[in-house]
Amino acid sequence: MNTPSKSTPSAVKPRIYFNEVATRDGFQIEPNFIATDTKIALVDALSACGYAKIEVTSFTSPKAIPMLRDAEEVMGRIQRVPGVEYTVLVPNLRGAERALESKADELNLVMSVSETHNLANLRMPRDKSFAALTEVIRVVDGRTPINVSLSCSFGCPMEGDVPLATLIAWAERFVALGVRGLTVCDTTGMAHPAQVAQVVDALQNRFPHTQLTLHFHNTRGMGLANVLASVQGGIVRFDGSLGGLGGCPYAPGASGNISSEDAIHMLDAMGYDTGMDLGALLTVARQMSHIVGHDVPGQVAKAGRITDLHPAP
Ligand code: COA
Ligand code: ZN
Repeated sequence: MNTPSKSTPSAVKPRIYFNEVATRDGFQIEPNFIATDTKIALVDALSACGYAKIEVTSFTSPKAIPMLRDAEEVMGRIQRVPGVEYTVLVPNLRGAERALESKADELNLVMSVSETHNLANLRMPRDKSFAALTEVIRVVDGRTPINVSLSCSFGCPMEGDVPLATLIAWAERFVALGVRGLTVCDTTGMAHPAQVAQVVDALQNRFPHTQLTLHFHNTRGMGLANVLASVQGGIVRFDGSLGGLGGCPYAPGASGNISSEDAIHMLDAMGYDTGMDLGALLTVARQMSHIVGHDVPGQVAKAGRITDLHPAP
């Protein structure tokens, strides 16, 4: 793994890897069902944009997340592009079995580092989640890489502060089980850049061989500032949601993820290699409001790139 040190000279910018979560985190909170064909066409369009990874769907209970009840069909019908990893969110063993059956490239297990949010989202205490996910990792037995998303890593909308020591303790337990990566999730946009700098520093020092991904929501307008703090701290992997859709239905006040195209546009303008075709991405981003039937928060799709000039009035 190629995690640059903080002393990387500014001229040598690291490659940044984006994971698109619009069809999972983005869609799961939408009130109106999005047709299976539309989801498949969207994933196929995203596959042509240069993403490192796409979180296609989740293998959750169809009663809990009815939007994603078509997970098998979506995974079965998308056109997989070599070089793009197709990952899925998995809450339990049943979900893992479905994900393996669907030949997902990665299983993204989820639990919350906040007890109250874990009870709301997964209907069990954290220790029980950890035991269940330990069993999942044992059953998968290295056949498919495992990532673990830790919800509410920067704070919980019900409990408030989540101590860094708590986050590190849960991360430690999963790293000890041999997971490939950890996604540090700011589920309800409570993180601020100074906190992010501290957290990414601590996690990289502690887990130098683990792929660390940062997952921000823009609930309080700090999303891109947090991306910048992460990049400056040496992080190269991010989740984003096209149009800025998204949110956890079991976290009060949750709202959209950082908009992928806004984050990629920012990093691209700063000279980072994101591997993305920004023009193609903006074309897809401009379809999002039609797909969900309402305006979306993403800004660059509306304003255009900073290089898109206008005739003088
Ligand atoms: N896939 C499909 N169905 C599942 C399932 C899975 N992974 N896990 C549970 N179910 C079904 C069970 O078969 C059962 O169905 P039934 O009522 O028809 O018998 C029902 O869901 C309840 O099962 P149970 O084991 O009691 O689970 P639960 O009610 O405690 O739910 C979760 C636990 C985690 C599976 C469920 O709450 C869930 O899927 N939550 C979604 C979390 C999420 O995605 N949040 C947003 C992203 S962070
Ligand atoms: Zn999220």
